Amino acid sequence: MLVNFNEMLQKAKKEHYAVPHFNINNLEWTKYILEECQELNVPVILGVSEGAAKYMGGFETIANMVKGLLNDLKITIPVCLHVDHGQSFETCKKAIDAGFTSVMIDASKKELDENIRITKEVVEYAHQKGVSVEAEVGHIGGTEDNITSEETNATLDECLAITNNTGIDALAPALGSVHGFYKGEPNLDFERMKIINETLSIPLVLHGGSGIPDDKIEKAIACGTSKINVNTELQVAWSEAVRRFLNENEKQYDPRKVIGSGEQAMKAKIREKVQLFKTK
Ligand code: 13P
Repeated sequence: MLVNFNEMLQKAKKEHYAVPHFNINNLEWTKYILEECQELNVPVILGVSEGAAKYMGGFETIANMVKGLLNDLKITIPVCLHVDHGQSFETCKKAIDAGFTSVMIDASKKELDENIRITKEVVEYAHQKGVSVEAEVGHIGGTEDNITSEETNATLDECLAITNNTGIDALAPALGSVHGFYKGEPNLDFERMKIINETLSIPLVLHGGSGIPDDKIEKAIACGTSKINVNTELQVAWSEAVRRFLNENEKQYDPRKVIGSGEQAMKAKIREKVQLFKTK
């Protein structure tokens, strides 16, 4: 069932676990994620970055692909189709009009007032259509879609300002996590995460979920994180398996065999994350 993330994240916040957000890049990844989460009987959020949307043809192609898979694979778990780091109102509107059930508007590179103004515009449009909205304050650093940026931690005042002035459904406060690989040990501000969670009524999101040691993920969940985004670790698991397969099968050329050789490694990683996040 294609839904927004409200019910799944509010339940996660109340019952102290996290819902996984896995980024998708193609049909096969989407199929593996849906099949594994169905097998585990847990809700899932499919994240689509602007770059991935462009790669797959566009939001309409993706929305139709996901709807088709839900029917053909007889998926019964709650599935949320979510724009990851939408950079503008226009991007979010396009995805909503195509059938996405959730969007992240990321205007975190702008001044706070401008971030609030753009986010509010997205919320007004999204909520009319029953679509949930995530926003970001501070700035999550690292590299995503080949774009590298510096990190700036969010303050409680910024979190309160964006939440109270926009009506967003979830917030990603930058608190030291980065996209892609970490240089050294991740340094997350758990104390501030806990205070923000206790002050806001909406669920918190942790970006840059790859490469954070398990005990820190558990701590983030204990401090109130309800949604954790994972992309790089799935990419690494899949590509390592495919590389091994190609090295061992130099004459293989069937794309179904080549792409499919990453299936089990990717599904194992999905299972590992769901178990770590204690998703219910
Ligand atoms: P990683 O690539 O570090 O897992 O981050 C994913 C993410 O935060 C997507 O928004």
